[in-house]
Amino acid sequence: MITFPEGFLWGAATASYQIEGAASEDGRVPSIWDTFSHTPGKVRDGHTGDVACDHYHRYAEDVQIMADLGLKAYRFSIAWPRFGTPGFDFYDRLVDALLEAGIAPVATLYHWDLPQSLQDAGGWTNRDTAYRFAEYAAGAHARLGDRIATWTTLNEPWVSAFVGYGSGRHAPGVRDHAAAFTAAHHLMLAHGLAVSALRAAGAGSISITLNLAPMLGDPEPARLMDGLANRIFLDPLLRGAYPDDVLAHLRRFTDVNLDDLPTINQPIDVLGVNYYSPKHVRAEPGAPGDAEHPGTEGIAIVPPEGPVTEMGWGVHPECLESLLVRLSREYPGTPLMITENGAAYDDKVDEDGRVRDADRVAFLDGHVRAAHAAIGQGADLRGYFVWSLLDNFEWAHGYHKRFGLVRVDYDTQRRILKDSAHWYRDLIAANGL
Ligand code: FCB
Repeated sequence: MITFPEGFLWGAATASYQIEGAASEDGRVPSIWDTFSHTPGKVRDGHTGDVACDHYHRYAEDVQIMADLGLKAYRFSIAWPRFGTPGFDFYDRLVDALLEAGIAPVATLYHWDLPQSLQDAGGWTNRDTAYRFAEYAAGAHARLGDRIATWTTLNEPWVSAFVGYGSGRHAPGVRDHAAAFTAAHHLMLAHGLAVSALRAAGAGSISITLNLAPMLGDPEPARLMDGLANRIFLDPLLRGAYPDDVLAHLRRFTDVNLDDLPTINQPIDVLGVNYYSPKHVRAEPGAPGDAEHPGTEGIAIVPPEGPVTEMGWGVHPECLESLLVRLSREYPGTPLMITENGAAYDDKVDEDGRVRDADRVAFLDGHVRAAHAAIGQGADLRGYFVWSLLDNFEWAHGYHKRFGLVRVDYDTQRRILKDSAHWYRDLIAANGL
């Protein structure tokens, strides 16, 4: 039996655009994901978040499910496009319901749904967006800060910058390497400005969530890829400087204002880590390079060996362990939280109505054990959040990929607890395995 430290925060995560629906209700303005998903050819089968899991209307039922699972915390995101509209009241209702159920709300301010009006002015390539974000952060805190103890500024700025502006696989669908680096820098500036604003307003615990991908394979390409995916955020945020190799690389495409670094390097209380899988890379002369890692000509990302999830992502729990240990050694002093980990599988509803997702249970079990092993090696890990509570809109894949502990039937909006949900409830009750 393995047991976790007392008070370990077991939770599940979602994001506004992926679950809420109610896309044009109560004054919500369009976001870049509304525009993108309504643009033919961008999202598989033309799926959109217009209705999604209808969580905006069904939140009470969903909070009841969380309570039944015994969740200690719920990580959700606040839709910036609802800020300043009557629809923002939704978060009052949600947070109150969570608190009533004894579930700690962990709010992310930006999980990719930038108001389209800001995109029309340049989005994250426009420095001004960072200042608008800080205003929004302060405003959201003014409304909800009396009830939300943990605030996360950004979810996965790497994806916002390099998938949004590099490959264009995500909204706003831009393909421009210089813009991707500029966006990354402005996202970090936005974070720093928001941390200052939240701190001044008395926010309890402040964090940012990064997706960190361990790079396996030939050492030199792996080092460059690690710089472009991981250290490009870790170092400015936690050390106040771009790594030399990353800065030299970035300058091939554009330049950034290094005077922003002290603003970016605000003390944070928790570093959120989203971990799914490592990337395998190798030197391959003539390889075109990957648009999400600008300037990686001659480097190939090779398909994983061994088992993969429905996303094609390799299953490597040992990389979660080494990642957590690495973070605690190389960036000491910042407590860690796994803010996302989970897997998509091609779930089936059996004749008896049950979803026997043994593959997901095995995935989660392996990663929870890896997290525990990292604690044993000294990592200051405070919590673990499954992605996701519910099946939901998986960005460019639409509703085709199911990550939920809870199945959503999109025709009826019926929720079914999968076997993994029952497994997770038992884990939480025992605080271990
Ligand atoms: C992460 C996102 C989350 C979800 C999972 C599968 O990159 O933060 O919204 O899509 O991947």
